[in-house]
Amino acid sequence: MSSSLDEKIVNQVALLGELDKEYWSFSRRAKRTHCHGFIKYPAMMVPEMQGELIDIFLKHKPEIKSIFDPFVGSGTTLGEAIVRGLDFQGVDINPLAILACETKSDVFYISSLEEKIFGLIARLDCDKMTTVEVSFPKINKWFLPRIQVELSKIRRAIMAEPSKWARRFFWVAFSDTVRGSCNSRSSTYKLHMKHEQDLCLVGCCFDLFKSKLNSNFLLKKEQVRLLEAKDLLSRASLKSLVDLSIGDIQSAPRQSDCSRHDMLITSPPYGDNSTTVPYGQFSYLPLMWIDTADLRNKVPAALLTNASAIDRASLGGVHKCAIKDVERLRDMSTSFSHSIENLSKYANNGPERLAAFINDLDNSLDGMLYRIKKDGYLVWTLGNRHISAQKIPLNSILRELLEARGCQFVLEIDRIIPYKRMANRNSSSKTMTEEQVLIMRKI
Ligand SMILES: C[S@@+](CC[C@H](N)C(=O)[O-])C[C@H]1O[C@@H](n2cnc3c(N)ncnc32)[C@H](O)[C@@H]1O
Repeated sequence: MSSSLDEKIVNQVALLGELDKEYWSFSRRAKRTHCHGFIKYPAMMVPEMQGELIDIFLKHKPEIKSIFDPFVGSGTTLGEAIVRGLDFQGVDINPLAILACETKSDVFYISSLEEKIFGLIARLDCDKMTTVEVSFPKINKWFLPRIQVELSKIRRAIMAEPSKWARRFFWVAFSDTVRGSCNSRSSTYKLHMKHEQDLCLVGCCFDLFKSKLNSNFLLKKEQVRLLEAKDLLSRASLKSLVDLSIGDIQSAPRQSDCSRHDMLITSPPYGDNSTTVPYGQFSYLPLMWIDTADLRNKVPAALLTNASAIDRASLGGVHKCAIKDVERLRDMSTSFSHSIENLSKYANNGPERLAAFINDLDNSLDGMLYRIKKDGYLVWTLGNRHISAQKIPLNSILRELLEARGCQFVLEIDRIIPYKRMANRNSSSKTMTEEQVLIMRKI
């Protein structure tokens, strides 16, 4: 039964690729419409591509009702799942990512939202105070005194809003404002000071905030229209269930009664954050200004202690892997074994970095698979990063780790990435130009 389903899915994906060689690159078809435009987040997936993949699975397996994304990020899969009436569970270690997801899956009271925006702007316009509301290490390095006062006014105006759902919506717009008005360059996700002469060019926070708030409001209206047209809302709430949490997927419970999802759709990090995409550094300054009491679950204080804490807590963040674990991974994956051998020729910590990342990824797989029903499909969007100029075949490594757990390979799609901004070009990380979508089935 399932292998004939696999065949139908493979045929449909292959046919689309044969009719148009660039079909899966989405280079001319990727747009950030409705909730997908709320926040700038690094390495977001292409919503249209995830949506089309979900549609292909739904066509051949209409009983699919729920999706799990263990590295949910800004919630691209979430946005596409809820607009199809599917239940969804998402986990991410980064509190800012979960905040963005909450705003995507809540706040459907358009007229009250509009009123609350008017109230917020009115409070902002009449605030004459000049006190700075937050304090954290190096605040004066990252924000000009004038900007600190302006951001404080916005923070006060948001905190005076009584409804948490509205505050969360505002925090997301505020998060882009904090990034847009800080002294760090916008050309990189890392925190990296602007040139001295560019500091005086930082614009007015109020203009940035109001414009972002307005565009997010229009995007929210668009999302509500889409959901209403499909009768997916009831009393301004989603009919489908959404469960989001801030957490390390490595510590997800491994009990079989968790297996309630029909599919997994995700994009894990490509490697350790510090040498690929530093999601944590990107989010650090907004998180210093947002009231973390408004986040979904209590944020472990350790995650916010400094700009690299989230990155260190993420997959591969600590470059250590016991020899016995390296051996175990080599037994499971020949592609990992070859990569480690190639990297060992260089006098740097490439092998440790790769082993630590793959070990963490491997440690998280059982917890994820427990949440997926038998015969559930697993769809992974993956990038192959470089270490010491060696391409690391994450697609083959992950496929082998899943096969070692009895999963069945279904298909791989190779696609060119339309645009991706990397932390920095350096000897260990080259700009990625392609990625793979690996499709497996849990047996
Ligand atoms: C490629 S991004 C996901 C992007 C997402 N698909 C989107 O479109 O926005 C990978 C995510 O994995 C998260 N992550 C890294 N290590 C994690 C861990 N140990 N547990 C949970 N999430 C983790 C990062 O915070 C990041 O948001």
